[in-house]
Amino acid sequence: MARIISGITSTGKLTLGNYLGAINNFLKLQEKHELLIFVANLHGLTLPIKAQALKENIRDIAAWYFAAGIMPNKTHIFIQSDVLAHTQLGYVLLCNSYVGELERMTQYKDKSQKMTNQNKTISIPTGILAYPTLMAADILLYDADFVPVGIDQTQHLELTKTLATRMNNTYKTQLFKVPKIIVDQQAQKIMSLQDPTKKMSKSDDNLKNTIFLSDNKQEVTDKITKAVTDSENIIKFDPQRKPGVSNLLTIYASITNKNIKTCEQYFSNHNYGFLKKEVIKVINNLLEPMQKKQQALINEKLSQLVEYLQQGAAFANKIATKKLNFVENIIGINFIEKEK
Ligand code: TRP
Repeated sequence: MARIISGITSTGKLTLGNYLGAINNFLKLQEKHELLIFVANLHGLTLPIKAQALKENIRDIAAWYFAAGIMPNKTHIFIQSDVLAHTQLGYVLLCNSYVGELERMTQYKDKSQKMTNQNKTISIPTGILAYPTLMAADILLYDADFVPVGIDQTQHLELTKTLATRMNNTYKTQLFKVPKIIVDQQAQKIMSLQDPTKKMSKSDDNLKNTIFLSDNKQEVTDKITKAVTDSENIIKFDPQRKPGVSNLLTIYASITNKNIKTCEQYFSNHNYGFLKKEVIKVINNLLEPMQKKQQALINEKLSQLVEYLQQGAAFANKIATKKLNFVENIIGINFIEKEK
């Protein structure tokens, strides 16, 4: 059975984009593969965040996974920092990377550009530079076969492959399996509601851009009603010319599990008002039952949530510790070999 690993960073509240782009995909994958999913709380530290917000994000994301239907008896869900080997291997990989290749990462360039202080000095946290080496550790620790991610993460995955190959060559040993990337072609394309040329993001400052999984009916209605379209009043999928309408079609198609062409036909004789009403309906139908389960898990069933996460971490720790010991022995940092 192929092993799959993926994670979501705890920098904000989960969005409809996270659900349709990642979690929905995990639901399908867990049927046929060994799935490890984690809350990337160490990655959540790479940009300034208040302790209380970080705590809530971690708890909420973990609860959303289960509320969405990820099954604790099939999939191993854990918190990244509960498996210490991530940090340890992350450091080893950092030492095998070059400053230049990390500086070339688009996400690093984007994030660091926003780091100008009020007095015009620039303070770029080192964590955002090292981000991809920790991410590589997350993956390589488990000899994962596949890593499903959004298209914005493919560059980090290419780097993961480069680091794995580099270390295998340097030490003339098959230290790591070189993973494959899976990008879900349809689901990745959930865009911002007000600026549909950029991705819907949990760390967007403009809350009108984003449907959060925790949004109530009224919030969903308001945000979709105000979503940007165009003045043509023709419902067609054309992301270049009609990014707003295409985004609404994508959301509708992803939630209802239909292909875009079928949806286009269904809406062909209708106006944007009708499209928006239908999109609001399917989003609310999706979110309502999930929100009830998520709330239960962070309130009366909190001990159940904690237990699931402990089980997940115990499973992950076994694999990760073994791999870390092996790597440490090969690269020579243990003068007496650790157990393999
Ligand atoms: N960087 C990913 C994101 O922002 C989260 C992540 C961290 C991840 N480590 C990972 C995804 C390892 C896949 C595999 O969404």
